[in-house]
Amino acid sequence: MKVTLSVIKADIGSVGGHIRPSQALVNRVEEYVRDNHKELLFDFRVSFTGDDIAILMTHKLGVLNEEVHKLAWDALIAGTKLAREQGLYGAGQDLLKDSFSGNVKGMGPAVAEMEFEERPNEPFIFFAADKTDPGAYNLPLYLGFTDPMYCAGLLLSPKMSKGFKFTIMDVAYTEGDKIIELNAPENAYDIAALLRDNERYVVETIHSRDTGEIAASVSTTRLHNIAGKYTGKDDPVMLVRVQGAFPATGEILSAYSVAPYVAGFMRGSHIGPLMPVKRNSPISYFDGPPIVSATAYCVHEGKLTEPVDAFDHPFWDYIRNIASQKALDIRAQGFSGAAMLPYSELEYGGIVEKLTALDKKFKVRGK
Ligand code: F6R
Ligand code: MG
Ligand code: MG
Repeated sequence: MKVTLSVIKADIGSVGGHIRPSQALVNRVEEYVRDNHKELLFDFRVSFTGDDIAILMTHKLGVLNEEVHKLAWDALIAGTKLAREQGLYGAGQDLLKDSFSGNVKGMGPAVAEMEFEERPNEPFIFFAADKTDPGAYNLPLYLGFTDPMYCAGLLLSPKMSKGFKFTIMDVAYTEGDKIIELNAPENAYDIAALLRDNERYVVETIHSRDTGEIAASVSTTRLHNIAGKYTGKDDPVMLVRVQGAFPATGEILSAYSVAPYVAGFMRGSHIGPLMPVKRNSPISYFDGPPIVSATAYCVHEGKLTEPVDAFDHPFWDYIRNIASQKALDIRAQGFSGAAMLPYSELEYGGIVEKLTALDKKFKVRGK
């Protein structure tokens, strides 16, 4: 049977700064979906990563379905009401539009969806990252789907020998979806040339070239582009199908051992290591570091199994320590050079205003 996985997530308020939602808020969103989905959904799960609440849903209505998106939007609105009552910080922060029209794309929440014919056993991983943007997944996806150093299946499995098709979006273009399709392995250098720029080019989907099936789907929202100003980092979600014709769970996870430096961290304006964390982890040091959680499920006839926390393992404690050291290393140089994002990516207006004012005071000697 055909099934659609939809994950919609937003920051609608948190306790003690941009740290984590209150338990009551998570419960409220969950209750709302439970009480109002009627027969719309096969199943759903509500979780949080840092200050973001994610609603993972299974249904048969395809991607960008109005009813499914409206349900999630209304659940986030209901949550926002409670967040306001509780006085949570940043209540309703990511809900940037007043009225719902069609689907939540372009309204603030991040969305990742995929529709496929369910395999007899259908494992997938749901990733949620906080204090970073969608480009944070570029390197792990590149390594997981094109590099046999990380994905042994590219060498060992005949089902993967044709490689994968990457659909990459230019997120600086705001008039519509500007995309390019490139095939790995032949176009691997072109893919790398684009994906090196995490703030401009972002993987949107990956498909198997063997079966044509969808393997990965990433939320590509840039809140910055919707609101025209800083409203929080984009904190991306992602769905990745695993095993069989797709990389194994461990091959997809392996690239997170790099804990790559990504954009985000304090005020969405710094560089920090992407730390793989357990589900439902809060934010801490320097409003970070940027974090990513990975929850593994199987979906069967639309029903989700219990969640299994893919980063809850002693191995990842070791990587978390390495990521902490990397965070300290780059933080030691404060605002200087690579530690803070370039001018174009600084999300707070303050420094831009300072530099504009200072620019007027510059004089060309001798003129
Ligand atoms: C980054 C983030 C935080 C805030 C910072 C200041 O995505 O959410 O680092 O930018 O805590 O927050 P405000 O401006 O709300 O006081
Ligand atoms: Mg926030
Ligand atoms: Mg967030």
